[in-house]
Amino acid sequence: MANDQEKEAAARASLRFVKHGRVVGLGTGSTAKYFIQLLGEQVKNGLRIRGIPTSDRSGELAASLGIPLTTLDECPEIDVTVDGADEFDPQLRLIKGGGGALLREKIVASATRQLVIVADATKRVPVLGRFPLPVEVIKFAQAVVQKKIAALGAEVKLRQATDGKPYLTDENNHILDCHFGQIPDADGLARQLSDMPGVVEHGLFIGMASVVLVANGSEVVELRRQGVVKS
Ligand code: A5P
Repeated sequence: MANDQEKEAAARASLRFVKHGRVVGLGTGSTAKYFIQLLGEQVKNGLRIRGIPTSDRSGELAASLGIPLTTLDECPEIDVTVDGADEFDPQLRLIKGGGGALLREKIVASATRQLVIVADATKRVPVLGRFPLPVEVIKFAQAVVQKKIAALGAEVKLRQATDGKPYLTDENNHILDCHFGQIPDADGLARQLSDMPGVVEHGLFIGMASVVLVANGSEVVELRRQGVVKS
């Protein structure tokens, strides 16, 4: 699959941001999985780092590969986090949460000095919103929040697990997938969602990504908020 090759290429390029002795946030999703696997190889070859996973499944994968893990309680400041994204725009604003881990991902990102996003070319968009925006809600508030977000113009669907039951996050909440089509004012929408009682977190990551490594075929391009550097 071309996408898988791009995901792996982007993940491989992110390894240069991970240095000896660092605390490293471990993202969630299929692209972050490549990163964790490659990091596992580096750890076997002697790299000393400690990882903080953004989901139970990333933590289990990392532990199975022998990556030493720590917690935010022990290390509330993270040097670098490598994570995927569902979309990014020219300002490096992101939609995240397609894999259901947006809450822990955002907490880890907020505690991170350098957030490196790894992505295949399909994730690059001129305007956010093609991908349904995930919003994590407490179960009690689900119907109320669903109505409020629908009133903003989105088609809102409760995410379901493969067994047809509501999907449960690692924090035991539900996710509303909100299809806006286009989000012309991502900053404003982020504020509106954060202000809704019952919303635990939303998948708009604004001003958080330092770097996006986007693969296009075998070429990986490094985007920073100020410009573009080929690698
Ligand atoms: C997980 O909750 C997400 O934020 C992922 O990082 C995002 O969905 C990207 O996933 P893929 O790398 O699988 O496309």
